[in-house]
Amino acid sequence: MIRFDHVFKRYPNGREALHDVSFEIRAGELVFLTGRSGAGKSSVLKLMTLLERPTRGTVTVNGQDTSTLPMRASPAFRRRLGIVFQDHQLLMDRPVYDNVALPLMVSDTRFRDIDKRVRAALDQVGLLEKERVSPAELSVGEQQRVGIARAVVARPTVLIADEPTGNLDHGLAREVMQLFRRFQDVGVTVLIATHDMALVREFSQREILIDDGRVFSGAQGERTS
Ligand SMILES: Nc1ncnc2c1ncn2[C@@H]1O[C@H](COP(=O)(O)OP(=O)(O)O)[C@@H](O)[C@H]1O
Ligand SMILES: [Mg+2]
Repeated sequence: MIRFDHVFKRYPNGREALHDVSFEIRAGELVFLTGRSGAGKSSVLKLMTLLERPTRGTVTVNGQDTSTLPMRASPAFRRRLGIVFQDHQLLMDRPVYDNVALPLMVSDTRFRDIDKRVRAALDQVGLLEKERVSPAELSVGEQQRVGIARAVVARPTVLIADEPTGNLDHGLAREVMQLFRRFQDVGVTVLIATHDMALVREFSQREILIDDGRVFSGAQGERTS
């Protein structure tokens, strides 16, 4: 479960990115966070992943009030979330396998389990046969799927994606969306920030629309599409 209660975010330069933002996402939902560029989508995700802290208000993720977490606890907290970026942030000098294994290497997962889980994650995104290849040799769509495998390898209950289809054409974007749907099918809560309205319309999931740092619609879980 994810909840924002009257959240304000003002950056040190004085820019107010979020103004009195409240919404709730139940466990197992797949929700789009939409709004034009600069609306505040990434700011919402940064507060959820503890890359930023709210100026006022409460952010609850997985039932945990994040304001009670000390900064030193944030890397461990972040490792329990699956995070997908637009620019996938893969290590190009390491094979696909190592990129996906990375979140498990920094946790205390046993070696045998690492191997099993990396293969399972690569299988889920359809890239098992590419495990020894460098990400540089893959297409952008495949690279994004490696990023998704890395995000889910530690079996997070919450998957958060910031413009995950931003660099993909519509066909590839649709494939990536179908992957997210499959994770929702097995109980993962999925939040996808996007300004790709064609994709949002096509998948007709719940949509939280923010504009100029304010929630415009969708805060309460009514279907907006
Ligand atoms: N670190 C930051 N410092 C100052 N202003 C920021 C910072 N990050 C984002 N902003 C500003 O906050 C507003 C919302 O940005 P953002 O959350 O990135 O929106 P979106 O992801 O919807 O494009 C924008 O005006 C942006 O310029
Ligand atoms: Mg953004």
